[in-house]
Amino acid sequence: MKIMAGNSNLPLARAIAGYLELPLTDASVRRFADEEIFVEIHENVRGEDVFLVQSTSFPANDHLMELLICIDALKRASAKRITAVAPYFGYARQDRKPGPRTPISAKLVANLITQAGADRVLSVDLHAGQIQGFFDIPTDNLYAAPAMAADIQARYGDQALMVVSPDVGGVVRARALAKRLDNAPLAIVDKRRERAGESEVMNIIGNVKGRHCILIDDIVDSGGTLCNAAQALIDAGATSVAAYITHGVLSGAAVARVNKSALKELVISDTILATDATQNSDRIRILSIATLIGEAIRRIADESSVSSLFD
Ligand code: R5P
Repeated sequence: MKIMAGNSNLPLARAIAGYLELPLTDASVRRFADEEIFVEIHENVRGEDVFLVQSTSFPANDHLMELLICIDALKRASAKRITAVAPYFGYARQDRKPGPRTPISAKLVANLITQAGADRVLSVDLHAGQIQGFFDIPTDNLYAAPAMAADIQARYGDQALMVVSPDVGGVVRARALAKRLDNAPLAIVDKRRERAGESEVMNIIGNVKGRHCILIDDIVDSGGTLCNAAQALIDAGATSVAAYITHGVLSGAAVARVNKSALKELVISDTILATDATQNSDRIRILSIATLIGEAIRRIADESSVSSLFD
């Protein structure tokens, strides 16, 4: 087995390789003067089971292109099997047509990865479970929830908890986390615009008064959804609000928004390489899931069960 990495998240790739007690495959992923990507693998991979770690995070298009070109290089170097390990699978929010004449980019990206020559895909908390079906190759979707639940138990286990979904679409994910937290009660933030032109009203479904709320989501991007939900929960009488979110996209002014928000803390995983602003924020903590990904890779290579990681 070999672990190779693109440039999107080298610390995570190194941590995964460390868990598996393997060196990272000697390869360089460089740019020509015009920013075209050039990949060179400096060791033999013929007949190898290769796991290529590359999140399609910011800059999304560059990192996606790196992923595709690395797959092509591995294929032409006669790797036996190539698994695209994209801990953060970008473009996933474009998973249906929200209006006429719009693309389904998640499907297009799935096609690109498959056409480039990947044999399998491994990702974490896909935005929607059905994106698995966009790939016509085996795709494993891992969940950060067990690691989050353990952290929540350790930090907040002695408090009256309430798991909260920041929108109606995230209820299944929130319910799954609540189940892991001894069936903690569940609340939902329901955003509504009563009339066109009026601002959104945040209705809380569930009584959060006196509760320590745990907001759970797959992505924090601008931070708008999260920070507005945290404020609405405090306004509804929650004692405090912490958030556990798998993919810290945190674009633009998101970190500044989180720093000024009603959140006690935001916990993100390391599927996306943290920016300096994220690392320097005393409101944001990073929970590594390198061990989870490493163990899933080991099981895929050994052909043993991956789903039993979540029993
Ligand atoms: C939406 O369906 C996702 O689960 C997240 O809630 C959303 O992507 C967060 O975006 P933002 O941080 O920009 O509000």
